Parts: sequence; structure tokens; C-alpha cells
Amino acid sequence: MRIPEKGLDKDEIFKQMTVFREEDLDWRSGRVMGYIYDAGKEAEEIGKKAYMMYLTENGLDPTAFPSLARFENELVSMVADHVGGDKDVVGNFTSGGTESILMAVKTARDYFRVHRPEIVMPEMILPTTAHAAFHKASVYFDVSVVPVSVNSETYKADVEAVKRAITENTILLVGSAPSYAHGVIDPIYEMGQIALEHDILFHTDACVGGLMLPYLKQLGEPVPDFGFDIPGVTSVSVDLHKYGYTPKNASLILYRNKSIRKHQIFACAGWPGYTVVNSAFQSSKTGGSLAASWAVMNFIGHNGYLEIARKTLEATHKLVQGIAEIEDLRVMVKPEMVMFAVTSDTVNVFHIIDEMKERGWYIQPQLEFQNSQKNFHISVNVSSVDLVDDLLNALRDSVEAARSLKTGELVTTIKDALANMGPNDINDDNISDMMAMAGLDGGDLPERMADINEIMNTLTVNQRELMLKAFLNDLFSQKKPG
Ligand SMILES: Cc1ncc(COP(=O)(O)O)c(C=O)c1O
Repeated sequence: MRIPEKGLDKDEIFKQMTVFREEDLDWRSGRVMGYIYDAGKEAEEIGKKAYMMYLTENGLDPTAFPSLARFENELVSMVADHVGGDKDVVGNFTSGGTESILMAVKTARDYFRVHRPEIVMPEMILPTTAHAAFHKASVYFDVSVVPVSVNSETYKADVEAVKRAITENTILLVGSAPSYAHGVIDPIYEMGQIALEHDILFHTDACVGGLMLPYLKQLGEPVPDFGFDIPGVTSVSVDLHKYGYTPKNASLILYRNKSIRKHQIFACAGWPGYTVVNSAFQSSKTGGSLAASWAVMNFIGHNGYLEIARKTLEATHKLVQGIAEIEDLRVMVKPEMVMFAVTSDTVNVFHIIDEMKERGWYIQPQLEFQNSQKNFHISVNVSSVDLVDDLLNALRDSVEAARSLKTGELVTTIKDALANMGPNDINDDNISDMMAMAGLDGGDLPERMADINEIMNTLTVNQRELMLKAFLNDLFSQKKPG
């Protein structure tokens, strides 16, 4: 492709874009149970207006646009208070949960480079349910992951396993409030005690729960504290673009005090251009998402969030109860958030997901991993609360339809091929044959995904990752025109 010789007509541009997006998920339907957090028309309009007001402003230099620094400080102050922080808590706005987590790990690494320089191979202890972003941080910042198991019934971190995993190289302990996959909260208090005893840093990943959980507690749910009111917690990540209902990209990384946060900041005066000082990963960045977050959070306000939480909680209770009554389905563990995992011992959940798609619902598959069997995930959203009965009916019908569906021949062929291979026989060299066999070459996906999910489920973690990377490597490559 080439840059068009002559710029396109403005109507033509939007006509094309409208066609391109036809196959995208229809998130306004309220039937997309992941990815999207939609608090309704008014919040959307306010977010968009504020975003557009600051679209071009550059967050690179907060002294050039002091209003951006003001938004950031006010958001940090509001959310710090919400998660049990006092006046010493500091933090920054980031592009999302992943950036916040990357910053927490980088900060811990650099903190210990100063305070315990004898540690040359730093380690972080991760319950197996911790978000993938910590593994990304491990790769980016060379902090090794020491995985610890979660209890097979509660899916919460095993405190004794955490104790056993501590070594002289441990710099960081991580707990989730809640973990995404199952919607349960790790034993943050007990983990905080371990962190204090060993004088290490402790991050609570409250990306998905930080805004919602305190409201659920106010509504009478038995939600434990997870933030700065827990001794030992030194940093907390809270996404605004999830249950804060602000436009993407918006998250906060908070620290107990400045003496920890200072290890996050990057400055460079060693080049001939403008001096650089960045609070987080990015340098030039739109002021849009920050301004939109400030606007939406101020618009919804405490009472608005409480009301959203009340409706979402009621819908979650009704769904969990309704699913328990569907033969062959089982909620894996009672959620402590408005999100949960559903499995089946008798019907293939991947077929259920395909059948739900036929009925207009998007539901995320979650592959088997250690003591978590394959399942599907539901994040409940205020835009879906009036559709609970529809969702339950669709699930009932989908389970019924999925009962008679068989696994495709492709899965058997690939399973047979795998049975004759050693764990390291699938590698970068022959992954493309495997992809071609599965019909995944070229970056296209079939309409029905059950067989592909089943194949992924059969693979080892390393093989899954090879396959995913190969798929993306194909997806983002130059296409033939047309
Ligand atoms: C607990 C948790 N942490 C981190 C993340 C990563 O957030 P993001 O997708 O904004 O990078 C998520 C995303 O769902 C999450 O649920």
C-alpha cells in the first residue's frame, strides 16, 4: 500500500471506516461480557467531549499544560482516599493496568538496586492467578517470577506457599483484588504481614476492583480491605477505564509515599534536545484520556458509582444464582466482585461460547491452567443489568445446543500429531505448519472457535505462547490490497 496520492474526500473516509467496523463487536448492545465498560449515554458524551477538548494537548510536559497536572493530582488524591490511602500517598496516571503494573515492578527493581545492591537477580512472588502483565514486566525488567499456587477451591493465594517462596532475592510480593479469572481477592492482610516481616515491597493489583470493591463493601458485601489501610501494602494499581467507566487509556499507579515512587521517575538530560522527565512509560501522550477521566469521575460522583455498583451487584447475584440452576453449568467459585468464571464437567464450554455468539453474546474463553479447568468468564457491566434474563435464557439454550456438538476432526488430528511429539518439538521452525494445519495461517479466525480453543487447551503453556505469537506475527503483516 502507499499513502494515497491525493487525500481522500472526508465523506469517503468515514464511509470506509463505517464499513470496516461492521465486523467489530457491537458493544452498545450490552451483550459484550468483557472488554467494555459502558455507563450509558451521558457518561459517554462527557468523556468524549473532554477527550476531544484535550486531544492535542501533550502530557509530555506538565509545566506546559498545568491543567493536565491538576487533573492527574486530583484523580490520584480521590482514588488514594478511596483505597485507604493517607496524604502521603502519591501516584501517576498511566495508559492502563499493564502500564501501571510495569511501573510497579520497575519501581521495585530500582528501589532495591539502591537499598539492597547485593541483590543482582531480583525475584517477585506471583500467585498463579496474577495478571499476565506481571509476566510481561518480568520479561521487560528482568525480575524473575516465582510462582505460588492458589487454593483449588477458593482460587486465592496460598499464604504458606508464599512464605516458602521467599528468598534473599525477593523484592516484591503481588496480590490481586480481585484476580481477573475468578473474581476473588487474595489474602492481602496475611500477605502484607509477610512483606513487613521480610522488608519487601507489596503490590495490590486492584486494576479491576479498586473502584468497585469499596462500593460493594458499602452495600454490605463481605469485602476485605485491600489497599493502603493494610499494613505492608506499598503500591496499588487502579484502572479508571474499567469500573471507573472512563474512556481508555486510563489507570493509576499509587505508592505509599514519595520515597518509593521516586524510583519510577525517569529523567534524561544527556542528549542535546529538550530535557526529558517522565513520570511513567510514555513521553508524548494525548491529554485526552486524562481529561476525560477527570470529567467522567466528577460527573458520575460517589452517589453515581454507588448506584452503578448496586445495580451491577444485584445483576451478578441473579446471574450466579440463575447459572447454578442450569444443569451442567457451575460457577467455579463464589465471586467477591461482579465477575466470575463458569465451567462444566459434562458439556464443552468452548461450544457454549460459540452458541452464545450465534445468539448475539460475546463471552470470553479461559483455558485450563494448573488447578483451573477450562471455563468462560463473565464480567458484569451496568449496561447489561436489564439483560440478565436474556443472558440466562441464551445460556440455557446454548448449553442445550452444545450438548450434541462433537469436537472436530481437526482437534483429533492435531492431538494425535502432538502425542507423537516431545514438549519441545513444536518450535519457531515448525509452528507455521501447525498453524496451517489448524487453518490459522494468514491471521484469520474461523467463525466458530471451539476447535481452536480446544487445540490451545491441549497445548503446553510454551506451545500456546508460540502459537499466539505466530498468529499475531501473521495478523500484523502487509496484506494484499482488496
Ligand atoms: C486484575 C487485572 N490487572 C491488570 C489488568 C490489565 O489491564 P489493561 O488491560 O488495562 O492493561 C487487568 C485487565 O483486565 C486486570 O483484570
